[in-house]
Amino acid sequence: MPILFHSTFQNSDEWKIKIKKKFKNEKIISIYDRNYFKDVEIAIIWNLPNLILENLPNLKVIFSLGAGVDHILKLKDYSNTPIIRLKDPLMGELMYYYIQSQILNFQVGNNEYKIAQQEKIWRSEILPPFNKNITIGIIGLGYLGSIVSKFLKKNNYNVIGYKRKIINKRNIKIYTGKQLAQLVKLSDVIINILPNTNETKNYINKKIFKQMKKKSLFISIGRGSTVNEKDLIVHLKNNKEFYASLDVFNKEPLTKKSKLWKMSNVSITPHVASITIINSAVDIIYKNYVKFKKNKKIKSNVNLNYGY
Ligand code: OXD
Repeated sequence: MPILFHSTFQNSDEWKIKIKKKFKNEKIISIYDRNYFKDVEIAIIWNLPNLILENLPNLKVIFSLGAGVDHILKLKDYSNTPIIRLKDPLMGELMYYYIQSQILNFQVGNNEYKIAQQEKIWRSEILPPFNKNITIGIIGLGYLGSIVSKFLKKNNYNVIGYKRKIINKRNIKIYTGKQLAQLVKLSDVIINILPNTNETKNYINKKIFKQMKKKSLFISIGRGSTVNEKDLIVHLKNNKEFYASLDVFNKEPLTKKSKLWKMSNVSITPHVASITIINSAVDIIYKNYVKFKKNKKIKSNVNLNYGY
């Protein structure tokens, strides 16, 4: 049974080699091997072009090479094929490292020392607040957000969360619906891990920025579409104590014209807050593949109604 593999990752060839090795009894095909399309039951993909899926009449399952599935749901020819998104705890751990580094830069004053360095100023010391006195609000407490919250709690931060629906299995306070403003008002650090769905477009906008503490850190690592970038730029301009660590953008790569590049209260990284780890991802996909082979079907781990 041929398996379709497609990715736009820079190290796509490395992925292909690992997948071929792991799935040694299957033929791994690309989008150019059209002769095999009619027998394809499994597709392993990241950023598949439009109009490929409609030519796979026997497709039974799609594996996403990342945690997000917006790259699949936006395809014109996607219908209802079950999707298995990557749920890798190691990706959650990497995301935590990213977040912790941004928090520490804010907390100990590195961001401000950097600004002083650029102006050759030997600035006065900044006394960092202790972890127990810092409230971190996580917007989007899904699979990755929950892992991140556990790490942060272990480090003694006060962690609160925002979720579409309250499932109170967790020992942190959860806000929902219209309570987003309440959460951001209380938070010294706001972490946005919202997925890209119809509901979340421009979710973080001027109304929400206005509620944030004057001195706070906004870390955006979910999807760029969830933030109104124009509102963010205005807020950054008018609030010099407000800092943004941005990993995702409306348009990626971030255009050279964006004002964000040069703002002193902004850190920019190129969508790297949670990188897919090849070996562990291929192992996870393989385990699900074995289940699929055994049962001849597999249940989506994505809620298609909500889009994540
Ligand atoms: C993902 C991502 O969805 O890295 O995994 O954006």
